[in-house]
Amino acid sequence: MDFPFIKLFVLMLALGCCVMKQVEGRAFFVFGDSLVDNGNNNYLATTARADAPPYGIDSPSHRPTGRFSNGKNIPDIISEYLEAEPTLPYLSPELRGQRLLVGANFASAGVGILNDTGIQFVNIIRIWQQLGYFEQYQERVAALIGPQQTQQLVQESLILMTLGGNDFVNNYFLIPNSVRSREYSIPDYVPFLITEYQKVLARLYDLGARTVLVTGTGPLGCVPAELAQHSINGECAPQLQLAASLFNPQLTQLINQLNSDLGCSNCFIAANTNAMHLDFINDPQAFGFVTSKVACCGQGPYNGIGLCTGLSNVCPNREIYAFWDAFHPSEKANRLIVQQIVQGSENYMHPMNLSRVLALKPTKTNF
Ligand SMILES: *[C@@H]1O[C@H](CO)[C@@H](O)[C@H](O)[C@H]1NC(C)=O
Ligand SMILES: *[C@@H]1O[C@H](CO)[C@@H](O)[C@H](O)[C@H]1NC(C)=O
Repeated sequence: MDFPFIKLFVLMLALGCCVMKQVEGRAFFVFGDSLVDNGNNNYLATTARADAPPYGIDSPSHRPTGRFSNGKNIPDIISEYLEAEPTLPYLSPELRGQRLLVGANFASAGVGILNDTGIQFVNIIRIWQQLGYFEQYQERVAALIGPQQTQQLVQESLILMTLGGNDFVNNYFLIPNSVRSREYSIPDYVPFLITEYQKVLARLYDLGARTVLVTGTGPLGCVPAELAQHSINGECAPQLQLAASLFNPQLTQLINQLNSDLGCSNCFIAANTNAMHLDFINDPQAFGFVTSKVACCGQGPYNGIGLCTGLSNVCPNREIYAFWDAFHPSEKANRLIVQQIVQGSENYMHPMNLSRVLALKPTKTNF
């Protein structure tokens, strides 16, 4: 007896034809530090992690996910805007098969532009290794949909890159007389970082990236951790503010330079997250915050001392705090930042906002 239907059914299962859902829209890739890590560090032996309550208290599961937020972070809200699933951490075992086509998150809390940033966190995915994983990712996807389709998926994708804060906070300023601070003054350190960042972004372009959102640092001296250490009357720490005020404009210059060297007027887009943050630091009430100085979760002055843990103070309403912990914005603040990324004016987005750039670059393919 012959069972043609059973044979066909088995064949279909083998090909994965009917269980695989077609993935529509644009792939999204994320590189950088704790501001954008969706949980890679959960898989690593490092102290830079957010995998214990109350992190994630406002996430759908109300459980920690590895994100340094009470709920969603900036990549999650960009994924919402793209009408896509949140990016899975590249190290997650769930990231396989068709889910690879949604994109991936390579970010790792603690990293910086420099290889020596975050050495105290031991085992983190430094930026060059994140790029190495992106290469490996492309090989895995090529095995699934072929090399040409993979190249197209990457070229049509959106990429978010968030780096730089740790090169100051967790390197230059980490301890008095740090190696880097003996080597460089701040006005000399910034161009050195920019030169190294140029190499990272050029490599990303070589790997096929054509739409890369690059965020600057926030106002580093105004975060609760720095206020707790340096501030008497709530004023921002001047050295870190100097660093941010030099780094961000030079980053925008780098973006202009790259776009012009590569003959691609909107391959790289600078998001002035410093200006976005300063808006709610200067006038928290205008954005519905009761404070932009005190973290929701923490202890000591400004809730800015030590880590956010199960023993910390936690504010009852996370919507009215700009900072979730001593360094990281709340979900509410992240939403305001993404709103400016999507539709902000030239003061915030250079050369143009995300809605405009994506409208100029429609995706041609469903994979
Ligand atoms: C950082 O590490 C990468 C890979 O390990 C290496 O290629 C690069 O040259 C290093 N950068 C510096 C400035 O040492
Ligand atoms: C930003 O996006 C909106 C559309 O959402 C558009 O109307 C506006 O002109 C854009 N602004 C700039 C500066 O490109």
